[in-house]
Amino acid sequence: MGKVYVVTGANKGLGFSIVKQLCELKGPDDTVYLTSRNVSFGMYAEARLKQIGLAPTFHQLDLLEITFIKAFVDLIKEKHGGIDVLVNNAAVARSRMPNIPVWNNYSGTLSLTEHLLPLMKKNGRVVNVGCRSGPRVFTRISDAHKKSFADPNLTIEGLTALMDKYVASYKAGTVKQDGYVPNTGYGMSKMAVMRLTKLQQIKFDKENAGMGVIFSTCCPGFICTDLSGLRGPVKPDDGAQVVVKLATLPADFNGMKGEFWEGHEIVEWLDKQYWKEKWTRGKAGYC
Ligand SMILES: NC(=O)c1ccc[n+]([C@@H]2O[C@H](COP(=O)([O-])OP(=O)(O)OC[C@H]3O[C@@H](n4cnc5c(N)ncnc54)[C@H](OP(=O)(O)O)[C@@H]3O)[C@@H](O)[C@H]2O)c1
Repeated sequence: MGKVYVVTGANKGLGFSIVKQLCELKGPDDTVYLTSRNVSFGMYAEARLKQIGLAPTFHQLDLLEITFIKAFVDLIKEKHGGIDVLVNNAAVARSRMPNIPVWNNYSGTLSLTEHLLPLMKKNGRVVNVGCRSGPRVFTRISDAHKKSFADPNLTIEGLTALMDKYVASYKAGTVKQDGYVPNTGYGMSKMAVMRLTKLQQIKFDKENAGMGVIFSTCCPGFICTDLSGLRGPVKPDDGAQVVVKLATLPADFNGMKGEFWEGHEIVEWLDKQYWKEKWTRGKAGYC
């Protein structure tokens, strides 16, 4: 049976480029699901790739619609028996209400992944698309929050509770007093997704020894997409390369798992000093 790849939020931007590159790599029996919450946009994206000789398969999927998630899981189970690669790319950025990116980018990603993980095949790969905004926010929250988010004993439930606390603080109008940074809902959501990656790796390995599944997160760079207001200098096809590399890490890969990648390098993103120096030197762009 062929491999099954799933990419979320793939009707445009980075997700579209990821699907394109996976379709270029895929074997004849493999299936690359181009998923999108909007049917017309998704079908149009599928048609654009078909026009250049590629063969993605469109399926409607909204991270926030549990009925879509369950229907998609059933389809994968019946049609393919399992999944090889999940790329959690879908996200929203601009919102005056920080609970929206947290809900969409963190809770939606977590929900979809938890539904699909029982179908993950041996040597499967999960890539959670992160962003340098995450580590940047991490350097700016209070020391007490830093300690909680970086706690080596943190669990996924604990991380969700920390994010709930942040949202509650926003709703109470006390973000600043409570040690968070105002107007950084997107950065907080991306920090959570990046922290989640390591926690998912630990939990999955504990429950499924010997499966060889690797979770990774990365920043694709400051890309020219709707999310960045078309301000990023990086082309979506270039940004997609690191994601596709992580989505297709070979079965004999024996490096560290659950990590954050910048290009070809693993970066210890909870290292405050590293980011401080990086930004001071003005080397890291972020959106
Ligand atoms: N652009 C950058 O500079 C940059 C930098 C670092 C990281 N990233 C990350 O790269 C990823 C892709 O971003 P992008 O720049 O390509 O943004 P984009 O062009 O705005 O694309 C985002 C995609 O996510 C979809 N989406 C949002 N919420 C969804 C939901 N609930 N269910 C399903 N799909 C949903 C959007 O669908 P609609 O079209 O229906 O809205 C769209 O297809 C994101 O994770 C982002 O955080 C981007």
